[in-house]
Amino acid sequence: MTTKNRANPLYQIQYAVRNPGKVAPYARRLARDLVLRVRARDHVSYYRAVMKSDTARSAEAAVGSKSHDRWLALGTMQFDYLVEHGLKPTDRMLEIGCGNLRAGRLFIDYLDAGNYYGIDISPDILIAAQQTLATQGLQDKLPHLTPTRDLTFAFLPDAHFTVAHAHSVFSHSPLHVIEECFAHIGRVLAPGGFFDFTFDRTEGREHQVLHEDFYYRTETLVKLAERYGLRGQFMDDWETRPHGQSKIRITHG
Ligand SMILES: C[S@@+](CC[C@H](N)C(=O)[O-])C[C@H]1O[C@@H](n2cnc3c(N)ncnc32)[C@H](O)[C@@H]1O
Repeated sequence: MTTKNRANPLYQIQYAVRNPGKVAPYARRLARDLVLRVRARDHVSYYRAVMKSDTARSAEAAVGSKSHDRWLALGTMQFDYLVEHGLKPTDRMLEIGCGNLRAGRLFIDYLDAGNYYGIDISPDILIAAQQTLATQGLQDKLPHLTPTRDLTFAFLPDAHFTVAHAHSVFSHSPLHVIEECFAHIGRVLAPGGFFDFTFDRTEGREHQVLHEDFYYRTETLVKLAERYGLRGQFMDDWETRPHGQSKIRITHG
């Protein structure tokens, strides 16, 4: 959680003075993102291009892990939390923004064959996800890995998924993308099912940085979910995990 506004120029100057080594990489990212944004027709196309560029360097870094140990730990953290919350091998899981299966590899291993469905806007990260499947020896679990352009889930069946999960996806999403997800997730969620997502929480002003990182207040997302007949619950027990984002659980209202 933060109360800081990272988009505020004063904050950025103070941060640069405190962290001079980060100025050059930030300037390079700013320049790259400007070019990508000019070329892209919408946010999803832009973010797909960001992922293409990042994945070309390192798939693990592209999903936000600075080291392989961190990649392993972040996957385990997501998996353990859901198992503690009753995830069963028979659950049918939709992972939105599955990346290169940082957590997906553990879900796939645990769930019955065919019960994992990962979607992502980035074909490049999905190729990296296939590599993870191969290196982890998960071929027999026959998971689905599907590229998507939007979050309408139009190609998925009604009331199918008992668990949906999106980790570090809405932290990179403008509100209209989250709204699209809320407008449609209820249709594919089974009765009694739930959808957990993390987000970068601010208790100050909502803002974004480089159109890559978005900061929301809890009540904004809970009220948005209510508009689509969904109930949002802030997950207090996630706050104890060593992770900077917060978590909300969505259920049918
Ligand atoms: C920070 S990574 C996290 C990946 C994975 N959830 C994990 O924890 O390792 C964010 C992922 O979400 C994907 N993504 C971003 N916006 C998306 C959207 N609107 N729909 C589907 N995937 C999206 C990105 O391509 C990327 O793979």
